[in-house]
Amino acid sequence: MLSDLLKNNCPDGSEFSLVLSPMDDITTTEYRQICRKWGADMVITEFVSSDALIRDVEKSYQKIAFAPQERPVGIQIFGNTEQTLVEAAQRVEELKPDFIDINWGCPMKKIAGKGSGSGILADIPLMLSLTQAVVKAVKLPVSVKTRIAYDDKSIHISDFCEALQDCGIQLLSIHGRTKQQMYKGEADWTEIGKVKNNQRIKIPVFGNGDINSAEKMLEYKNRYGVDGILIGRAAVGKPYLFRQCKQILNKEDITEPSLQEKAEICRQHFLAMIPNHGEFRSIVIMKKFYSRYFNGISNFKPFKMQLMEAKTKEEIIKILDCIQNTAF
Ligand SMILES: Cc1cc2nc3c(=O)[nH]c(=O)nc-3n(C[C@H](O)[C@H](O)[C@H](O)COP(=O)(O)O)c2cc1C
Repeated sequence: MLSDLLKNNCPDGSEFSLVLSPMDDITTTEYRQICRKWGADMVITEFVSSDALIRDVEKSYQKIAFAPQERPVGIQIFGNTEQTLVEAAQRVEELKPDFIDINWGCPMKKIAGKGSGSGILADIPLMLSLTQAVVKAVKLPVSVKTRIAYDDKSIHISDFCEALQDCGIQLLSIHGRTKQQMYKGEADWTEIGKVKNNQRIKIPVFGNGDINSAEKMLEYKNRYGVDGILIGRAAVGKPYLFRQCKQILNKEDITEPSLQEKAEICRQHFLAMIPNHGEFRSIVIMKKFYSRYFNGISNFKPFKMQLMEAKTKEEIIKILDCIQNTAF
């Protein structure tokens, strides 16, 4: 049971989980491991196409490879037909993650436009039948990550969450935006709260969207009563946000790593990437992280420019050394 994996996560003894929300080309296995070390209770891989998995596309298998220390870990798939989703789920099952997550939330045109991701929210009966087919095809627990609706005028998740539960999923994660909203506006947590407060919903409900501090995490946990919260963008380059969340849940003072510690996390992250992704790709992926690792440091701009322009591992390590030895 997936719920067994969620026990004893919260320092106060209640069942509440902090999850690193999956982000394509960001939450690679190396970063997921870092976030688990800093307090994330659970992680989910970047999404991969069911179609690519059944066509044996090597890059997709690299994306869903995980390390034992990531557990509990879910592998996330997207797709738009029963045949591809079922076969992909069966292949994923062989990799023995703790659960399989179906992405019914991605709003990107190349995915949602083809009826995968949040595109499925335009056809709820199909969403339900595909979800049920995946649940029936595998022994592993299946979860769903989705959005609140296709658009403002569509049927909202609070109206069909029971049907999703009846499909046999064991966890529901909801990003409080519609598909049409993409990432604009604010996440609407009232819809998430309605699902959580539905007496007939027995599976854990996790909320997601715009949680950017330990304080906000605590406020939304208390206000909406969710069983867990996924944190995405705010955790990029800030793995210690999970420790800060744990500290506030534990009624401890919130601490922030020193600049030297942040530079060390960044260095370890970069070095861990190279064996798996190669030097060039690691340098490209790390560019998404620098301004986040060193956010808020005055006079950091020249270092950031050097990091963005660096072309070799040696150059990057040298700049990180320099950052560690500079009194900002
Ligand atoms: C660059 C980027 C890539 C993302 N990739 C995925 C993905 O692969 N799978 C997924 O379920 N959500 C993906 N998301 C959505 C996030 O997991 C999350 O639901 C969303 O960012 C809202 O949470 P936040 O406000 O905490 O960032 C992605 C978001 C971003 C910004």
